Amino acid sequence: MEKVLFVNCCIRREESRTKKLADFFLNELEQSGSYEIKELCLMDEGMPYMSEGNFHQRDALLAKKDFSHPRFYYAHAFANADKIVVAAPFWDLSFPALLKTYIENLCVEGITFGCNEQGCFGTCKADHMVYVTTRGGFYEGSHMEMGSRYMKAMCEFFGIEKYDCIVAEGLDIGLRPVDVILEEAMEKAKEVAKRF
Ligand SMILES: Cc1cc2nc3c(=O)[nH]c(=O)nc-3n(C[C@H](O)[C@H](O)[C@H](O)COP(=O)(O)O)c2cc1C
Repeated sequence: MEKVLFVNCCIRREESRTKKLADFFLNELEQSGSYEIKELCLMDEGMPYMSEGNFHQRDALLAKKDFSHPRFYYAHAFANADKIVVAAPFWDLSFPALLKTYIENLCVEGITFGCNEQGCFGTCKADHMVYVTTRGGFYEGSHMEMGSRYMKAMCEFFGIEKYDCIVAEGLDIGLRPVDVILEEAMEKAKEVAKRF
């Protein structure tokens, strides 16, 4: 069984269309019987962002290479997963600050990445990250879309080879029924699940 870490940043919880799409994808994975899925619900974590005191604590621990401190739990869990699934809505051209806070907690030199004379290199075990998102408007392929593009860059930074985005767009425009748009995205989810 491969270990899948599901990072849930669907702030609206069960009302979230992004969560509905993510659940469909995770269900496809479950049905294959090949994965053990562990959910990390960011809304339940009370995760700190890096403010002054928090930053200095981190600096002191990293200087001692003390990676056993509980604050590095998120980075260890991420680095050790076989596969990663992240779900977050498109907010303010990217995603909720809660997801950025999580990423801040993941970026620990010595756990999720390393550095040498050539630069930084990822040290995460996972070979595939899937990002599930939904957008109110249409931004696919636009330079203004900075959610999926950012996650793809982070994926590369962490040393994760494959990246896919499962997206449903135009949900708040009213041009087409939301259910129809979501069903189309679910077809893509099925295809990604087959080659996860
Ligand atoms: C705080 C906030 C910011 C948003 N920003 C954008 C945006 O920049 N562009 C956009 O197209 N939709 C934006 N939306 C709409 C959401 O992307 C859209 O409703 C999405 O489907 C919400 O996902 P959810 O149902 O999983 O919560 C925003 C919604 C909220 C609540």
